[in-house]
Amino acid sequence: MTKLYFHGSKNTFSKIAKELSGHFEFTADYNSSDIVLVEMLGESEAAQLDKFSGKRVFAIFDRPDRNLISEVKKHKIAGILTAPLSKEVLLGKLKNQAASSDLQDVVKYETLKAKIIAKAESIPPLPKIARELILLSSKENVEMGDVIEKIKSDQGIASKLLKIINSPFYGMRKEITSIERAALLLGLQTVKNIAISLSTADFFNKNFTLYGTTGKKLWEHSFIVARLCEEMAHFSNLNPDTEALYLAGLCHDIGKVILIDFLYENVSIPADESRQLGLNHIDVAEIVLKKWNIAGKIIEWVKNHHEFNPDVGSSILYFANMLANEPDCIQEILPELAVIAGIDKERFGSKIAQILGEDV
Ligand SMILES: [Fe+2]
Ligand SMILES: [Fe+2]
Repeated sequence: MTKLYFHGSKNTFSKIAKELSGHFEFTADYNSSDIVLVEMLGESEAAQLDKFSGKRVFAIFDRPDRNLISEVKKHKIAGILTAPLSKEVLLGKLKNQAASSDLQDVVKYETLKAKIIAKAESIPPLPKIARELILLSSKENVEMGDVIEKIKSDQGIASKLLKIINSPFYGMRKEITSIERAALLLGLQTVKNIAISLSTADFFNKNFTLYGTTGKKLWEHSFIVARLCEEMAHFSNLNPDTEALYLAGLCHDIGKVILIDFLYENVSIPADESRQLGLNHIDVAEIVLKKWNIAGKIIEWVKNHHEFNPDVGSSILYFANMLANEPDCIQEILPELAVIAGIDKERFGSKIAQILGEDV
């Protein structure tokens, strides 16, 4: 069993030890440990990190502190763990680390990896309508008419769009029967983003039983994460790029669409993918998104969606994904969102029930 050494407060130790019992063994001697966890209570602990060099060190934050996180990032560490220090969060990060070290120098994955990469590189392009709408968003002066016309040029997308807008998810009081009306009521950007999302649904048309889900649910998850990213960006005073964050949310799990053709056992965390295939869905997403010419910053955020990173874009996507998976952690996450991503807690808090409370 992988051995952990913990440096920090008693409180945090008992919390973590409870969550990890049965999965990891704790040791009082850091020399014999495989992974070191250092709780960050102040600047002095950031300096302590180097003391454990040679080990895989994780910095733990029970309360996030923007400056301290930036300070910690200057040290050579394996990752950062932030509240909620739940079993899912802890196991996800620590097991992935344990698996990736087991994989070092393992040749058996090489052929398989080459096949997966080839498959990711031969993924069909994003549908024409998505490409055209993304291109339109990058222009400075977008004409409402142009966007509406583009959407209407695809009958299938246009009718699905009206259906989704009239679902409880958007809380419309009256039935909306035209794209023009939808754009007036919800805003052009939202309507355009829904059209982009709908155009990606076919990629998810596979059997995702090994991920414990269905294609429809995985697409819905991506759609909800995209919407959460959009709203968080909207309520942030740090001026993040809303359009780019929406796209990041929509594409964050796209790697699963490729990996599902190769997996042979159940997956609950990325480490399960790495163990079976030598790659996880984050590695594969990078290949797919490059292939689709998606902006570099979006690819960076997607690469960080299972690993906390304090930059605004990455942290918004990270928390959006966490919220979509565990809506109950909202109260724990809200203070962090305010600190890290500059998000207005009150306003976002009341909006979120609508997003998470309804099925698409
Ligand atoms: Fe993911
Ligand atoms: Fe996800």
